[in-house]
Amino acid sequence: MSKNDTRALRELPRYIYGTTRLGDESLSLQQRRDIADKAMASCTWFHVSEQYGSALALLGEQFRSSQAPLPRTIFKMEVHSPDEYPELVERHLQTLGVASMDIGQLCLRDRKAADFVDDSDTFEILNNLRSRGKVERYVMEVFPWTANIALHAIESGCLDDLVEGLIFYFNPLQRFASNALWSQIQERQIPVIAMRSVCGARVHDLRDIPGVAWQPYLQQRAAEVAPIFERSGESDWARFCLRYVLNHPFVRASVGATANAENLKHLQDAAETATPLPEETVEELANLQHRWAEGTDAQARPWSM
Ligand SMILES: NC(=O)c1ccc[n+]([C@@H]2O[C@H](COP(=O)([O-])OP(=O)(O)OC[C@H]3O[C@@H](n4cnc5c(N)ncnc54)[C@H](OP(=O)(O)O)[C@@H]3O)[C@@H](O)[C@H]2O)c1
Repeated sequence: MSKNDTRALRELPRYIYGTTRLGDESLSLQQRRDIADKAMASCTWFHVSEQYGSALALLGEQFRSSQAPLPRTIFKMEVHSPDEYPELVERHLQTLGVASMDIGQLCLRDRKAADFVDDSDTFEILNNLRSRGKVERYVMEVFPWTANIALHAIESGCLDDLVEGLIFYFNPLQRFASNALWSQIQERQIPVIAMRSVCGARVHDLRDIPGVAWQPYLQQRAAEVAPIFERSGESDWARFCLRYVLNHPFVRASVGATANAENLKHLQDAAETATPLPEETVEELANLQHRWAEGTDAQARPWSM
């Protein structure tokens, strides 16, 4: 995250396949295998985690039987204590049957900034995994309740040699970087990987169908965003989302999930061809996100949104 490192994470494609639906037991195993095959045939990068039910095991089987080049992976590194990192990495490598992971996503959960960012033992463990070729590089995950940790890391420069960018929820309804962190990201052009491409569903479904928004705040935001979407001249929700997010110059990619072959193709096409939204639309969304960051996100309890 060193200042003005504009090359970092440039090789990422605009769309990264998120693998949660591969672990969704409401789908048949065959359906999940089919969509995994399709995603492997067309997507060069996947986002994986051992928290997505059987998704990682299923992918391991698909990877082992594939004759084609394997997708590269961003994987979540979520631990209770830093000394668990080597074992976590080995587990991922063995399950997937690969020799190294491309990007490790450092999950801060709610540990204090000092525990992670300023702890030289943790730095050494992660650096060692990198030198041994187990993990090629790292990005840092941000949630509203850990945004200050990322801000501290950026301002102190203490992770500049380790972390190449940030990864957080970013779509028209969510921007999980605080306003202070967002200013730093913009000023320093820190590479960002956006997550949750369409915020889980179409905006009108989030607004109108009970239960689609998993928290009331998302239903309220959908009610605010829907008229902006309708005025924007873009009639397709997925394209609207990707046009908004990917035209921030520091956003490298958007991670979105699907179990549907048509949606997969649509997400990829929309990401590759995403032209900027009209200026006034971008400004309206940015203003909303600034207000939400202050009014809701900054006060949010961990894991409440
Ligand atoms: N902390 C973390 O690291 C973290 C947290 C959350 C998510 N993620 C990553 O981000 C990925 C995406 O997150 P997510 O699934 O929560 O959010 P998402 O990608 O915004 O939403 C996925 C949902 O959107 C639907 N969808 C896909 N394309 C669509 C389209 N064109 N129009 C309307 N609906 C569409 C999918 O349904 P169909 O399956 O029917 O297409 C699926 O139910 C995850 O797989 C995961 O890799 C990471």
